[in-house]
Amino acid sequence: STTPVIFSGIQPTGVPHLGNYLGALRQWVKLQNAAKPNTKLLFSIVDLHALTVPQEASQLRKWRVEAFATLLAVGLDPKRSTIFYQSAVPAHAELMWILSTVASMGYLSRMTQWKSKLQLPEETTLDNSEARAQLRLGLFSYPVLQAADILVHRATHVPVGEDQRQHLEFSRYTASSFNHLYGPIFPTPEALISPAKRVMSLKEPTAKMSKSHADERSRILLTDSPHEIQKKVKVALTDSEPGVTYDPTRRPGVSNLIEILSHLEESSCEQIATEFHSASLRALKEHVAERIAHHLHGVRERYFEIMANHSYLDSVTQEGATTAQANADVTMRRVRDTIGL
Ligand code: ADP
Ligand code: NA
Repeated sequence: STTPVIFSGIQPTGVPHLGNYLGALRQWVKLQNAAKPNTKLLFSIVDLHALTVPQEASQLRKWRVEAFATLLAVGLDPKRSTIFYQSAVPAHAELMWILSTVASMGYLSRMTQWKSKLQLPEETTLDNSEARAQLRLGLFSYPVLQAADILVHRATHVPVGEDQRQHLEFSRYTASSFNHLYGPIFPTPEALISPAKRVMSLKEPTAKMSKSHADERSRILLTDSPHEIQKKVKVALTDSEPGVTYDPTRRPGVSNLIEILSHLEESSCEQIATEFHSASLRALKEHVAERIAHHLHGVRERYFEIMANHSYLDSVTQEGATTAQANADVTMRRVRDTIGL
């Protein structure tokens, strides 16, 4: 039987937000803390992925460190989990090349991310010459690099938000295509979808909370102060109906706030709606803001402490790179041997 290996990644595209936290990071920490001693845990700052959209060098340099410090601040323990920059382990890129020799163009062209990043309609195909002109190879092949991230560590479980389900399916398909051609090298990775599937934007509650949304008030950052959290929640888009009810289709804004509260407090949305039945939206918002600030308090404190401790960050970074490299090298020796390199 294979050793359980948990792998996941986050892009260094700014300080992570509440959606990243509830949909991914909190889950990683829970898995770490519940893991049996023989389970390997690897969490990566996927900086090569960030290059699929234009980046400014000084900005990316800053964001990488911020993302690293956040993973430590939320409770990943470098003694238990390997935390590393993707670009520090060249095997990710090497395996990507090898997998790209088996990956299907047709499958990639049907995936949604390149279209959403270029703001093209979902039904766009590569027959569209405007799409072809805008589309760069790295953005198109993003899922192949993601498959390499997972497979190079022989991951068996990948904790992600719902938005990543399609990419995980592609990784499974690529693993089995490779195995079919060359023999059973890669385990088929399983997605562990977080219960907080999609935390929605505070300003546009029908879209997911995201780092790429222009309006900064649409997301709560893990480093926001209680006052900033209060301001953002106060102006969150809701509706003009009086009172609090949980109805995601008709009242997405209010329901998103209830869902956030339900994930934080681990109580059901129905229970919260009942509790706030005769309260005003304003009272609900005040409560939600207070609970978010309460839950993020320790994260914020630790984040600033870690960011100020350069020697600690440097040593953890080095340690993570060495361990991740060694783990990836085991896979690459097998892969190279199998394909005749
Ligand atoms: P973003 O989508 O903001 O650029 P990433 O792509 O780096 O963030 O995603 C990192 C992790 O956070 C992934 O596992 C993703 O599924 C999860 N995630 C991102 N946004 C949300 C959200 N709004 N709700 C729940 N999970 C999310
Ligand atoms: Na995402």
